[in-house]
Amino acid sequence: MKSWHINLGAGLAGLTLEEHPEPQPGPHEVLVRVRAVSLNYRELMIAVQGWYPLPVKPDVVAVSDGAGEVVAIGAEVTRVRMGDRVVASIFPRWIDGAFGFETAAQLGGSLDGMLTELAVLPEECLLAVPPHLSFEEAATLPCAGVTAWNALTGGCGLRAGETVLTIGAGSVSLFALQFARMSGARVIALTSSDEKTGVLRSLGASDVVNYRTNPDWPAEVRRLTDGIGVDHVVEVGGYGTLERSFRSTALGGEMAWVGNLVDGPATIDATVLRTALLTMRMIAVGSRAQFSAMNRAIAVAGHHPRIDRVFSFAEAHEAFAYYAAGKAFGKVVIKIG
Ligand SMILES: NC(=O)c1ccc[n+]([C@@H]2O[C@H](COP(=O)([O-])OP(=O)(O)OC[C@H]3O[C@@H](n4cnc5c(N)ncnc54)[C@H](OP(=O)(O)O)[C@@H]3O)[C@@H](O)[C@H]2O)c1
Repeated sequence: MKSWHINLGAGLAGLTLEEHPEPQPGPHEVLVRVRAVSLNYRELMIAVQGWYPLPVKPDVVAVSDGAGEVVAIGAEVTRVRMGDRVVASIFPRWIDGAFGFETAAQLGGSLDGMLTELAVLPEECLLAVPPHLSFEEAATLPCAGVTAWNALTGGCGLRAGETVLTIGAGSVSLFALQFARMSGARVIALTSSDEKTGVLRSLGASDVVNYRTNPDWPAEVRRLTDGIGVDHVVEVGGYGTLERSFRSTALGGEMAWVGNLVDGPATIDATVLRTALLTMRMIAVGSRAQFSAMNRAIAVAGHHPRIDRVFSFAEAHEAFAYYAAGKAFGKVVIKIG
């Protein structure tokens, strides 16, 4: 069986295909024939930037997100059966509760990932694929989907009638937009691209603001909310957008700091902090319990994740290069087999 491997900072060309003997599951492990994986910004951080906040082992099997079918089970396995369609939680040891050192081992980081024909996984990290989703769709869920779900539901919890601000039309933002609409919330979506406006509106955004032509977007967000600001910000921009996100948030609102897509000063005016009167949460994807809750909501809503393009297993380099070019509008998926 074959797997794509990567080293920290190896660059996109450093992705290498290796051949291995077929692995066997231990007593509490499951052998999964991986059918699809999806790429996330973390793949670029590991391969291109050479920096990742969590440990990355040498020559790791790349990619955190994947879905497939169970083809062998260990003698003590009780959570899944042969033939089940499953998706893996990227922190296999994080079942529920708070994130911490004990639960930080990650697929495609300190543990081998999913860009492989066969993956041996602990039974604890597997969840059933929502019945209406394909393997390609299910493979989009573990990182971007669970992160958006945690951002909106893991703190105070989004309520119907509240307003959410999403920043850029990347994968986390698209999931957040769709989950917010499923919950009866209003969404104000930022994007740099007027061509994306139609799709963002069709997914349920009430207002779309171009952050390039409107760099003072907090003023526009305030105008759109009668001066009040939004109840939730899914902050994926980081240093380059943080202060403006503070200025967009209502008193008593909540900001989920998810990512650092946008360069900016690593400082913030303390007056902005002091007067914001909001709660800020740092997000590290989410637990299996959160993944499970998200899957229930997805199944009830009949939600379909947005996929931009599907590549074959042999085209892993092309898939990484396409994702790295930053043109995708939806998830980039690699289909296996
Ligand atoms: N903490 C966690 O657990 C966690 C989990 C997942 C992701 N993340 C982080 O969250 C961030 C987003 O991840 P993703 O998967 O959504 O990435 P992505 O799909 O690659 O996001 C790309 C989008 O970001 C938007 N963007 C780029 N520059 C921007 C700017 N100056 N201002 C506003 N938006 C801008 C663009 O939207 P437009 O084309 O519409 O302008 C672009 O399409 C990354 O930093 C990632 O590392 C963190």
